[in-house]
Amino acid sequence: MVDNIKWHSGEIDKAAREELLGQKGMVLWFTGLSGSGKSTIAVEVEKELYWRGKASYRLDGDNLRFGLNQDLGFTAEDRIENIRRIGEVAALFADAGLITLASFISPYKAGREAARQAAGKENFKEIYVKADVETCAERDPKGLYARARKGEIENFTGISAPYEEPENPDLVVDTKSLSLEQSVELVLGLF
Ligand SMILES: Nc1ncnc2c1ncn2[C@@H]1O[C@H](COP(=O)(O)OP(=O)(O)OP(=O)(O)O)[C@@H](O)[C@H]1O
Ligand SMILES: [Mg+2]
Repeated sequence: MVDNIKWHSGEIDKAAREELLGQKGMVLWFTGLSGSGKSTIAVEVEKELYWRGKASYRLDGDNLRFGLNQDLGFTAEDRIENIRRIGEVAALFADAGLITLASFISPYKAGREAARQAAGKENFKEIYVKADVETCAERDPKGLYARARKGEIENFTGISAPYEEPENPDLVVDTKSLSLEQSVELVLGLF
């Protein structure tokens, strides 16, 4: 099938769109355990960017599973496909000139690396939202850890599925020791 398709370029490119918008299109990729604070931080960063007149768009794990990825579950295979699709979508948003905030557990290094490649590494920041599993389980904002510990949820990252820590992230946000405000400031420091 690949033999029968050919890329058709337009005449308006990323640089032209960025000039129109007055910003650089990029992906801020938040990775970390469930309950580490990815969504909470992304929501606050999105608001601050809005007030600064920057066009951004938030892609969030749970939200995309309602639509684009509703056919996928949480097996290793489905998680890989989940992140592959999202990496491609995030790259398209960044190519459109938007500051794209992607918050997904994204437990596998290879998936995050593929997302970086899709966006182009100069357009991609990997942000490790770091909190250990005990801290996240104590917060348990969705009640998922309690259910996972009772064996009600299979393949739960940190309990019964692996999380591969980023080796060389662009930023580490340690939410165990930082307040939400401090965490948001750190992320905004990337601009
Ligand atoms: N510095 C911080 N930054 C972000 N959240 C924090 C911080 N300190 C404490 N929290 C709390 O941690 C919880 C984080 O929950 P949140 O839903 O954002 O996690 P998540 O990483 O998006 O998880 P999931 O992968 O399940 O979507 C919230 O209850 C939030 O109030
Ligand atoms: Mg979340």
